Amino acid sequence: MNNLRIDIDRLMRRIRALGEIGALEGGGVCRLALSDEDKAGRDLVVRWMRELGLDVTVDRIGNVIGVRAGAVQGPPVMTGSHIDTVATGGLYDGNLGVLAGLEVIETLNEAGITTHHPLAVGFFTNEEGARFAPDMMGSGVHQGALSLEECLATVDSDGVSVGEHLERIGYAGNVAADSVRARAFVELHVEQGPVLEKENIVIGAVTGVQGISWTQYTVTGTSNHAGTTPMNLRHDAGYVAAAIATGARRIAREMGGDQVATSGVIELAPNLVNVIACRARVTVDLRNTDEQALQRAEQSMADEVAMLTEREGVAIEARTLARFAPVEFDREMVDRVADTAEALGHSVKRMPSGAGHDAQMFAPNCPAAMIFVPSKDGISHNVHEYTAPGEIRAGADVLLQVLLSLAGSE
Ligand code: GLV
Ligand code: MN
Ligand code: MN
Repeated sequence: MNNLRIDIDRLMRRIRALGEIGALEGGGVCRLALSDEDKAGRDLVVRWMRELGLDVTVDRIGNVIGVRAGAVQGPPVMTGSHIDTVATGGLYDGNLGVLAGLEVIETLNEAGITTHHPLAVGFFTNEEGARFAPDMMGSGVHQGALSLEECLATVDSDGVSVGEHLERIGYAGNVAADSVRARAFVELHVEQGPVLEKENIVIGAVTGVQGISWTQYTVTGTSNHAGTTPMNLRHDAGYVAAAIATGARRIAREMGGDQVATSGVIELAPNLVNVIACRARVTVDLRNTDEQALQRAEQSMADEVAMLTEREGVAIEARTLARFAPVEFDREMVDRVADTAEALGHSVKRMPSGAGHDAQMFAPNCPAAMIFVPSKDGISHNVHEYTAPGEIRAGADVLLQVLLSLAGSE
């Protein structure tokens, strides 16, 4: 059993085939959650799941889980990730975890191995949060951390809800989100950062995931003529949005440590060269591995926004789009990943994750862990995201062996 290995060519074929759906000219992929491209990607992965003999269910938030029977009944050992992407996504973020899961299943099928406990491969709706907030929506509902009703009612920028889009693409399933519980959860993912590559290490044994805080600020000021309005008489929503973005960055730089801050969206209205903006929308993404520090960053942002409201004479509405506390993975599971990787001859580093992942939603409810493989130049959420096949093979072999050790074999 320890000699069993995945077939990297077969796995790469699936990664490339899924990457053709929503492919962008010049590379990369756009498969935003619940778009037509997401539907086509889902259809392909479901077809593969069925061809591999998995028992496929779709739950009410559109999570898809394929179960392979074990010698005994009961909760499966689960793997998986997501197949939605950001609008400028690569081929690997999320997709690797799902398709490596299928590769593990095919490897076991070929070898004629029945595991003691069932195995399952899942993909979870809207992990990215790029179209509907919060991120990790499907796995959050699956694990009871987010409300099904609230998530179904969440709308995109056109005012269409998750529930309506699920109906539209045929993935409004009829089973309860928690109908397939996991005995344990293991996710293979690309690191999406520079650490493994820089240190020339092949496998990351992920110790936890940093806390995430997303806020959307809507600024209301007064539109006026750019040439005639004296500087001291302006209520400039555009300026305030920029000040929020630079304030977030300054706060993170001053805090130092693990604190990061990003303003990924700034929208102005009316968005014209010679008109002071009357409305602006700006988002701030704050992350830290330390919950207390993250709360200090949030408080500093609230103080900054109060100061800008007062000084600039504008109204600023703050809306929380996502808030997840830092997560620590089960010690025994992290050891299992690290020991398995070492036994397979790979260099290993224990490290936290900077990105959010479906596995973090499972962590409070069952033993959970993640396996990282390097990202070339540390680039992700970018069409140039790349991980070499040799590294993917290493990660998928670790996944295979970790799943086998958790599920047991007859
Ligand atoms: C989700 O993928 C995130 O970390 O933003
Ligand atoms: Mn991901
Ligand atoms: Mn992502």
